[in-house]
Amino acid sequence: MNAPKIIAIDGPAAAGKGTLAKRVAAHLGYDHLDTGSLYRAVASKTLRLGLSPEDAAQSFTVADLDATDLRSEKVAQQASVVAVVPAVRAALLAFQRDFARKPPGGTGAVLDGRDVGTVVCPWPDTLKFFVTASIDARAKRRYDELRARGESPMYASVFAEMAERDKRDSQRSAAPLKPADDAILLDTSDLSADDVFQAALAAIQGKTR
Ligand code: CDP
Repeated sequence: MNAPKIIAIDGPAAAGKGTLAKRVAAHLGYDHLDTGSLYRAVASKTLRLGLSPEDAAQSFTVADLDATDLRSEKVAQQASVVAVVPAVRAALLAFQRDFARKPPGGTGAVLDGRDVGTVVCPWPDTLKFFVTASIDARAKRRYDELRARGESPMYASVFAEMAERDKRDSQRSAAPLKPADDAILLDTSDLSADDVFQAALAAIQGKTR
């Protein structure tokens, strides 16, 4: 019984991609790549070192993923700004494809992001999911996440920043956020993380040969 070797999970911020990707990867014994962390790492370099987005992306190495500000909202916003630049996307493409085709553990790969199913791994044998949720559900999740980290965000600004990032990610011309034609859609607004995992698992088993 062989599950697909490459699983792509795309969707907007706080839709539950990361949680699902980690669980699927752990279940199958696959490696997981959060592709958003690459854009965040490039964004962090532009903010800390004053580099242009292109230079920050071209000099990207895995060590950049250790930046301590990677999960901040400031870096998230800047990530969606640098992600608009085609040269940035091009510079990060080979790293993502190498990971998908030759994952460190050699078994399989789960990649989550915005364009994994459409641009990074658009191939027919990639199993593609598009995970969405209402903006209210997503803003509430991000708000709770920030509070759990000890921050004191304003709900209205979390909501506004998410709406702004959704718009920038969906309307850009380079690799806009959208489901691949053959993606399986999962709306997580009213589902628990466990429900989402079970739904994804059923789809993976359906593709297992
Ligand atoms: O965790 P969250 O969903 O909030 O964001 P993320 O996945 O870390 O992505 C941060 C930003 O990077 C997104 O808003 C996108 O603009 C960009 N990104 C992208 O353009 N392509 C990807 N494959 C992943 C992220």
